[in-house]
Amino acid sequence: AAPIRYEAENSPARCTGTIDANWPGYSGTGFCNGNNAVGAYAEFTVTAAGAAPAELLVRFANGAAGARPADLIVNGATVRNVPFESTGTWDSWVTKPLSVSLRSGSNTIRLAPTTVGGLPNVDYAEV
Ligand code: GCU
Repeated sequence: AAPIRYEAENSPARCTGTIDANWPGYSGTGFCNGNNAVGAYAEFTVTAAGAAPAELLVRFANGAAGARPADLIVNGATVRNVPFESTGTWDSWVTKPLSVSLRSGSNTIRLAPTTVGGLPNVDYAEV
C-alpha cells in the first residue's frame, strides 16, 4: 500500500516543544521543534492494516554540528537508538528509513532524545 504521511504538527501527533515554520522546506504547515532536553519527544500515532514489519520514514533537519540521537519507541518498547546525524543546516531536510514492527490498528511511534541537545527538527513520519 502507498505510505501514509503523518505530519508532526497535526493531531494526534504530539510534540513537547513548539510547532515552528521558520526553516523552509518542511511539508505541511510546520515541524516539531522539540525542547532541547532528554525526555522531550515527538510522537506519532499511525495505523497499520495488519501486524507486520514496516518501513518507517522520518523526515528531519539537524543544523547542529553533532548528531541528535533519540530512542525509537514503538508502542512503549524501545526498538533502537537512532543517531539523527547533522544535516548541516536547519533547512536541509532528509528522510531516514527505519524498520519497525507494527501491530494491527493503532500504534504509537515516539522519538525520545537521549542527549541534552534534544531532537532534530521533525517534519513528518510516513508508514
Ligand atoms: C535553532 C533553530 C531551531 C532548532 C534549535 C535546536 O534555534 O532555529 O529550529 O530547533 O536551534 O538547537 O534544536
